[in-house]
Amino acid sequence: MCAKLASWKMKLLVSSCFLALLHLAAAYDPLDPNGNVTVKWDVMSWTSDGYIAMVTINNFQMFRHIGSPGWKLGWSWDKKEVIYGILGAQTAEQGDCSKFKETTIPHCCKKDPTVVDLLPSAPYNQQFTNCCKGGVVAAWGQDPSSSVSAFQVTVGLAGTSNKTVKLPRNFTLLGPGPGYTCGPAKVVPSSLFLTTDLRRKTQALMTWNVTCTFSQFLARKNPNCCVSFSSFYNDTITSCPNCACGCQNNSTCVKSDSKILSEAGINVPRKDNAPLLRCTRHMCAIRVHWHVKQNYMDYWRAKIAITNFNYRMNYSLWTLVIQHPSLNNVTQVFSFDSKPLAPYQPINDTWMFYGMKYYNDMLMQAGPSGNVQSEVLLRKDKNTFTFKEGWAFPRRVYFNGDECLLPPPDTYPYLPNSANRIFSTSSALGTSLLLLATIFL
Ligand SMILES: *[C@@H]1O[C@H](CO)[C@@H](O)[C@H](O)[C@H]1NC(C)=O
Ligand SMILES: *[C@@H]1O[C@H](CO)[C@@H](O)[C@H](O)[C@H]1NC(C)=O
Ligand SMILES: *[C@@H]1O[C@H](CO)[C@@H](O)[C@H](O)[C@H]1NC(C)=O
Ligand SMILES: *[C@@H]1O[C@H](CO)[C@@H](O)[C@H](O)[C@H]1NC(C)=O
Ligand SMILES: *[C@@H]1O[C@H](CO)[C@@H](O)[C@H](O)[C@H]1NC(C)=O
Ligand SMILES: *[C@@H]1O[C@H](CO)[C@@H](O)[C@H](O)[C@H]1NC(C)=O
Ligand SMILES: *[C@@H]1O[C@H](CO)[C@@H](O)[C@H](O)[C@H]1NC(C)=O
Ligand SMILES: *[C@@H]1O[C@H](CO)[C@@H](O)[C@H](O)[C@H]1NC(C)=O
Ligand SMILES: *[C@@H]1O[C@H](CO)[C@@H](O)[C@H](O)[C@H]1NC(C)=O
Ligand SMILES: *[C@@H]1O[C@H](CO)[C@@H](O)[C@H](O)[C@H]1NC(C)=O
Repeated sequence: MCAKLASWKMKLLVSSCFLALLHLAAAYDPLDPNGNVTVKWDVMSWTSDGYIAMVTINNFQMFRHIGSPGWKLGWSWDKKEVIYGILGAQTAEQGDCSKFKETTIPHCCKKDPTVVDLLPSAPYNQQFTNCCKGGVVAAWGQDPSSSVSAFQVTVGLAGTSNKTVKLPRNFTLLGPGPGYTCGPAKVVPSSLFLTTDLRRKTQALMTWNVTCTFSQFLARKNPNCCVSFSSFYNDTITSCPNCACGCQNNSTCVKSDSKILSEAGINVPRKDNAPLLRCTRHMCAIRVHWHVKQNYMDYWRAKIAITNFNYRMNYSLWTLVIQHPSLNNVTQVFSFDSKPLAPYQPINDTWMFYGMKYYNDMLMQAGPSGNVQSEVLLRKDKNTFTFKEGWAFPRRVYFNGDECLLPPPDTYPYLPNSANRIFSTSSALGTSLLLLATIFL
């Protein structure tokens, strides 16, 4: 039995080291091995000197959405192509169009255009299907219908047939920060489209795809979130590791009682998305707390709390992903929406949680409302379940697709040796511990 228990801890240590190595080596996420963003270009018609293409951005990542201020898609033209017009998006810069003497000046003459989505308030005649969401694209696992963004480009000075057209190169995707690496454009079988009356199929004249994958290692030097633990059977609160999210520069953090916080405009997000963090020992924007709350005959209960420490960010469409052996059979989740990753991935112990629409789907800026909470009721698997050796704590935690730093396994709250008696007492201790944990930094 002991050997069995020791081995999961070893596995945890080994796999986290392995994971770090993987992050260095390539963009591969064990909880979302096929996750990618695909950019598809469908040539819908040829023009006298180019083509009109529909560009579709599909977020095929299970739990990583592209949040505000949205995606930025860039590429380099292979020859002298220009963008005459664009619907449902715009380029960040027009570039030098001075050689166009005709009445119609192109929308963009840059060799390496960068395209951004329009806002929902865009005029109707500039819109396009699936456009104008400020570049925000939901995670596929959370809301497949919102996991797509699209625009239409009219390209000139380009090839006018599938033999002469040159594919754009060097695609880049910001979503909204760095972290994505895009492969080369590849010609794929032409897309088929169903007409609105569903009675006829049409076909793109030519289609090419670009696949972009995310790597947390490329996205940021430090994690963005950390995890803390507590339990009803031990009054130790295992807080987030010190400097979990980096302490190189804490001259900019704000104490929770600072006068600055009552100044107007303090919460306004910056263009560069720079956070304004509350001063903590972990210096993370997000902390996830897992409290082992209660023990029943066939079930056990855990409480999950997510706290925002960034005064400049409301997280909309947030997601939380937790891996734990008992999550192969969540019995009930209170006050969050949730689903297993299992139907989509070769993983059966991982669950995705997200806010309920209009109730807690927005994680508010740091402060009194800057937290969301839920409880999960888990079924005990007689063969594996135990409170010993920190087994009841998650193996991996992701917030918005970013992996959160866990405390070292040997600091988890341990089950005291004389545990049996405690198990029959109520969870009053646990509840007061959680209160403590909420104010504990
Ligand atoms: C991108 O993700 C989709 C959906 O999971 C998958 O079908 C496709 O194979 C992936 N593409 C690549 C190149 O991994
Ligand atoms: C191209 O991208 C689309 C999604 O936009 C996807 O359905 C299709 O499978 C991709 N084709 C290839 C060959 O990867
Ligand atoms: C190019 O178009 C011709 C017809 O115009 C078609 O026969 C051919 O299969 C197309 N090639 C590709 C790669 O789409
Ligand atoms: C694409 O990037 C490579 C390496 O960064 C560069 O050598 C090449 O010139 C670029 N191609 C275009 C068309 O900009
Ligand atoms: C960061 O804060 C910690 C504790 O609040 C302090 O000990 C340390 O000197 C600070 N570091 C910097 C670079 O300000
Ligand atoms: C810390 O941040 C401040 C303001 O952003 C900057 O002026 C300073 O140079 C930074 N210090 C270090 C050590 O990075
Ligand atoms: C967060 O949302 C609230 C309510 O909509 C708003 O008052 C506040 O300014 C927002 N904060 C940020 C940082 O966007
Ligand atoms: C999951 O729960 C069902 C009953 O809800 C039970 O029959 C099944 O054995 C459980 N599976 C595992 C792997 O615990
Ligand atoms: C879950 O996956 C593991 C490893 O892939 C496998 O050994 C185990 O039997 C699976 N459990 C269930 C309930 O499917
Ligand atoms: C509580 O857990 C800690 C480890 O985090 C351990 O050192 C301590 O002995 C435990 N308390 C009891 C009463 O077992």
